[in-house]
Amino acid sequence: MSKRVYLSVPHMGESELRYVTEAFTSNWLSTVGPNLDAFEKSFTERVGLPCVALASGTAGMHLGLRLLGVGPGDEVICPSLTFIATINPAIYLGARPVFIDSDRASWNLDPNVLEDLLRKRAAGGRVPKALVVVHLYGQSADMDPIMAVCERYGVAVLEDAAEAVGTTYKGRPAGTIAPIGVYSFNGNKIITTTGGGMMVAHDPERVQRARFWSQQARDPGVAYEHTQVGYNYRMSNVLAGIGRGQLEVLDQRVARRREVAFAYRDAFADLGGLTLMPQCEYGLHTNWLSAFQVDAAALGVDRDGLIRALEAENIESRPVWKPMHLQPLFEGVECVGGDVAADLFFHGICLPSSSNLSDEDQRRVIATVRRAARRER
Ligand SMILES: Cc1ncc(COP(=O)(O)O)c(C=O)c1O
Repeated sequence: MSKRVYLSVPHMGESELRYVTEAFTSNWLSTVGPNLDAFEKSFTERVGLPCVALASGTAGMHLGLRLLGVGPGDEVICPSLTFIATINPAIYLGARPVFIDSDRASWNLDPNVLEDLLRKRAAGGRVPKALVVVHLYGQSADMDPIMAVCERYGVAVLEDAAEAVGTTYKGRPAGTIAPIGVYSFNGNKIITTTGGGMMVAHDPERVQRARFWSQQARDPGVAYEHTQVGYNYRMSNVLAGIGRGQLEVLDQRVARRREVAFAYRDAFADLGGLTLMPQCEYGLHTNWLSAFQVDAAALGVDRDGLIRALEAENIESRPVWKPMHLQPLFEGVECVGGDVAADLFFHGICLPSSSNLSDEDQRRVIATVRRAARRER
C-alpha cells in the first residue's frame, strides 16, 4: 500500500525548533516567557491589533463572547455551515444558538438572510445579543454588509477566523474587522502550534481582560485572591515558540495552499463535475482546504463514491462541514433557511491540501479522482 496522503498536516519552517529549544535551555517551560511575548508582538505587527495567545481557538471564542456580554438565555446567531467549535462557546455561556443559511457566492453566511432575521426579530421587540461570523476554509465572509446590518440593529459581532489566518477582506486581515476576532493554530490549520489560538480586539482593555480571565482571573497582589471566574486558557511558552517560527513562513504557506487548490482546479477542468469553492474578489482566499462541489451527474461519481475511491488508494478526504441544523445535538434549534448549507454539504468534498503536499502526491490524488470519474461514467 502506498503511503497515506493526509488532508492537512503541519509544515514546519526553519526556526520553530530553535525557539522551542530556547524555551528548554532557558527553562521557560510555562505559560509565561519570551516566546509568548515575541509571538504576540509579531502577531500584532501582522494584523495591527493587540492580541492574547491562548490554548485554543475555542478558548478564544469563549473569552470573546463573554467580553461581548453573552450570557444565559441570550440568542447568538451563527452560520449553519461551520465546524461545531463555532457554536460550543455560546453553549458554554448558556446562550441559545440560532442558525442561518449560507450564500452560494462565498459559502459563508448570507447577509440578506441575516438582515431578514434581524428585521423580524426587531419587529418582535428582541434582537439577538451577538453574531459569530465564520470565514470558511480560508475565505472571508462579506463583512461590510454584515457589519452594517449588525450595527443598525445593535448586535455585537465576533469573527471566527479560526480557518482564516492569512485571509484578507478588502485589504484588511480577516478577523480584524469586527471588534473581536479569534484565530486557531490547531494541528490541521494553515500554520500551527500543535494546538492553540489567538484572540484580537480593537479595544486593548478587552485583550487585557481576556488575558486576566485566561490565567484563572487572579487579582493583583501576593495573596491568591479572586473576584471573578477565570479559566486555564493561556498558551504555553513552548508552543508559542512554534507559533513564532510558523508566523515567519505564513505567506509562503498561503501561497502554496493556493497553488495546490488551483492545480486541482486546472487538472479537473475537463471533467466538468468538480467545481472549486468560489474565490470572492473582495479578498484573498487562502484555500486552507481545497474544497470542491461534486456534480455527480456530470462527473459520473458522487461525493461519497469519490471519498471511497480516494480512501481505497490510502488518500484522506472528507465532506464539507455537516451543517449545524442537521446535527442531532441541535435538533429543534431554529435555522433560517438552510438549503444552501445542506446542498454545499451533500455535494462538498475537501481534498488533501497541505502546503507540504508533494507534486507527486498531488498527482496521485488527481489520478485517483480522474479514474473514479471515468470508471462510473
Ligand atoms: C470554524 C472553526 N471555528 C473554531 C475552531 C476551533 O479552533 P480550535 O481547534 O483551535 O479550538 C475551528 C478549528 O478547529 C474551526 O474550524
